[in-house]
Amino acid sequence: MAEVTRKIGLSLGADICWPVAYTEILNKLDLAIPWGGDTVRFEVDRLRIDPFDLEEHVPHHVVIDRLTHWYNPRREWIKKAILLDDVYVFNNPWSVQSMEKLTTYCAMIRLGFPIPRTWLIPPKEYDAWEPDLRHTLQHYARYFDLEQIGEKVGYPLFMKPYDGGGWRAVSRIDNADELKKAYEESGTSVMHLQEAIHGFDRFVRCIGLGPQTRLVLYDLDAPLHDRYTMTQNFVDDDESRLIRDMTLVINAFFAWDFNSCEVIHKDGVWYPIDFANPCPDSQVTSLHYHFPWMILANIRWSVFAATTLRKQLPMKWPRYFQAVEEGMTMRERLDAMMPIVHRRFATERFEEFCATHLSHLDEVANEWFGTADCRDAVRQKVAALFPAHEVEQYTETFFERIQNWCAREGAFTT
Ligand SMILES: Nc1ncnc2c1ncn2[C@@H]1O[C@H](COP(=O)(O)OP(=O)(O)OP(=O)(O)O)[C@@H](O)[C@H]1O
Ligand SMILES: [Mg+2]
Repeated sequence: MAEVTRKIGLSLGADICWPVAYTEILNKLDLAIPWGGDTVRFEVDRLRIDPFDLEEHVPHHVVIDRLTHWYNPRREWIKKAILLDDVYVFNNPWSVQSMEKLTTYCAMIRLGFPIPRTWLIPPKEYDAWEPDLRHTLQHYARYFDLEQIGEKVGYPLFMKPYDGGGWRAVSRIDNADELKKAYEESGTSVMHLQEAIHGFDRFVRCIGLGPQTRLVLYDLDAPLHDRYTMTQNFVDDDESRLIRDMTLVINAFFAWDFNSCEVIHKDGVWYPIDFANPCPDSQVTSLHYHFPWMILANIRWSVFAATTLRKQLPMKWPRYFQAVEEGMTMRERLDAMMPIVHRRFATERFEEFCATHLSHLDEVANEWFGTADCRDAVRQKVAALFPAHEVEQYTETFFERIQNWCAREGAFTT
């Protein structure tokens, strides 16, 4: 029986706290998993930004990526690593690069999800009037009646970039005058106009990591660090299953292992309004109470992927399209698609793997979350975001919320 090492690379941006928690807990686990006649051990490192030879092989088996959506050199390195060395990367860089919000709306419209009415409008301005652009617009761009589109979508509506991006340029619009003004000010952005779901009673974020999901009641009006609320029991069992299954279908469909889906509830319907977030907030300053869940889910999924040498699977959209039929309810549609989703995420195998090889994870993690090292990791992130005089106070707040999670949920995390 040989001892083999699986190498997990962290591709990081402004991530300060979670990589510390992830690495320290994984090291403390000291895993030695019997697999395929070998004993599998683990090593974690942080990827650097270096020039690279396209033919150079990489030693990693799994990469957890947080940079692809805005830093191209890393994205291209990752693509090379997948093509040359079969590295399993989440999220799939091609999928992150090409699935803007518009693609996700269209795909889910086709699958029968209740997506609010959405239009795309050409941009108000262009950066540079290159000859080709001038020719194209002169011949093919027609004046359009913005007011008429506003009426078709209906007020209130949201104007927001078709590709999203952290609340950038999102505005709520109540009438034609506001629409005209917002369009005038939208510059070079390509915008969606989307029917607003207003007067809703609940706004939920569902975080998915592989086949694992977590629901959080989201409070839009709270300060940033309190938006992920700690409220419990805000959905009944059927609603919980519906939202989790919607999220898993979306994630499996687009080959996203890690994504968060925003759904709004109004008059008995859960509307997905934004489910293209394939680099979800992972910072303790946002997740606080839910931070340990994310760390543990990440460890489970990455260790499973590394041990089993999981491969980047192609997207198989026709399977989903063929599974649903005209006239089906949302629940029936999800029931028809969930077997495809669970096959993709190997849910059963994953759960068995966790029960067999990671049964000590909760205990090890709970212990680490109570240490001065954990507190220090929290402090580092707080210090990067908060004014100096608030650092102690918020470090304490977030650290305490982590302790609350450990006390309340630490043993029941999958
Ligand atoms: N159709 C809608 N109905 C109601 N509220 C909406 C709608 N669209 C957007 N919003 C509000 O605007 C916010 C930002 O919109 P959206 O999530 O689509 O953009 P974003 O740039 O992706 O934001 P982020 O990346 O932070 O999630 C939503 O979280 C929601 O509060
Ligand atoms: Mg959003």
